[in-house]
Amino acid sequence: MTLLDGATMRTAAEAFVRFPPHRVAPYNKRNWGGTLHSLCSYQGKLKPSIAHFLVAQFTEPGDRVLDPMAGVGTIPLEARLQRRIGLAGDLSPLAIAVSKAKLEPFTAEGVQTRMDALRIAVSHADSQDVSQGDFGLNGPISGYFHPKTLREILAVREHFASRRMSGEFDTADAVILSAMLHILHGNRPYALSRRSHPITPFAPSGDFEYRSVVERLTNRIDKTVPLLAQLREITSPGSAIEADFRSANSTFGTVDAVITSPPFASSFRFWSTNWMRLWFAGWQPEDFKIEPSRYLETEQRATFAPYSEFAHSMASVLKPSGTLILHLGETARENMAAEIAPLLEPYFQVHSVGRESVATGESHGVDKGATVAHWYLFASRR
Ligand SMILES: C[S@@+](CC[C@H](N)C(=O)[O-])C[C@H]1O[C@@H](n2cnc3c(N)ncnc32)[C@H](O)[C@@H]1O
Repeated sequence: MTLLDGATMRTAAEAFVRFPPHRVAPYNKRNWGGTLHSLCSYQGKLKPSIAHFLVAQFTEPGDRVLDPMAGVGTIPLEARLQRRIGLAGDLSPLAIAVSKAKLEPFTAEGVQTRMDALRIAVSHADSQDVSQGDFGLNGPISGYFHPKTLREILAVREHFASRRMSGEFDTADAVILSAMLHILHGNRPYALSRRSHPITPFAPSGDFEYRSVVERLTNRIDKTVPLLAQLREITSPGSAIEADFRSANSTFGTVDAVITSPPFASSFRFWSTNWMRLWFAGWQPEDFKIEPSRYLETEQRATFAPYSEFAHSMASVLKPSGTLILHLGETARENMAAEIAPLLEPYFQVHSVGRESVATGESHGVDKGATVAHWYLFASRR
């Protein structure tokens, strides 16, 4: 990699914030980035065009680019598409399944073999106990699906749980799981649920119509697998690992750049906005009480002090003078950039901190309601 010296980074950073390239057509279109970026809806996903330009302007081909809080892998996927090595970490099994599908190698034959096994699991769906559908955060899961569809969903959920338990869960499974997570609920014909919302499930309406899991899943996979396979031909794979950002060094080795968008200060109910997909990806009903306390979304409600650990961890994974870029949120009550910048200082030289108002432009899918501005912090390891 060519290391950016402080002055060069500052100049590029100031230009990025002053004339945000992602606000110019065609990058300002709501669905810029296409199907690969939209593999599965995710509350909190970064706008892909922001990721695109951060990667393009602040890293080089061949660089190892880590997002230790990658969500559904928007930044590492952009890194991969631009011939970098995209690396993703996240605590969430939902997020990591989708990132894995976007970043790691698999074969179409592998997907077919696992689909055959999944069809067998679905053929035994009648034995599923539908009382599992009594769980739900804003109404029971059973309120979203025809009973026969619900049994099939339970069978597929159990199938993936046993693949994970046996240690066999691989990227071909992640490709299928991502497709399944995407079609789980929504307001379009592809969805398995009654009419609801594609990002946050609530207020299901319409008939309890049977919708075949295998049929809709196969349609989705037929659409996504060829695109993911093309990616394999033109780019180098990366990796996605379920891990706390604090263990980045032992998980990913050395990297050239860290680009990440930590949870915005307003997103403390992340588990309720993504609840049905988290449940499907492996959370048990009791996990909704226990798991959130491990997440930065919850920790930073009390204090931003965990960003000192973040700074230490990122300094240990980055090459000397390696690049750190944070995409942060400002709400009416809190400016994350102002809170976090001083905590980075022991390990990083902060070259530029800039604000982009989202009050007038299109909001970027991250905690839209409470966020008044996005901040970009550009630094390099001391
Ligand atoms: C704003 S989202 C990132 C969204 C991502 N840029 C995308 O486009 O999908 C923040 C992410 O941080 C993750 N996270 C929270 N605490 C974490 C921790 N301690 N270690 C790793 N990931 C964490 C959350 O699960 C969430 O996916």
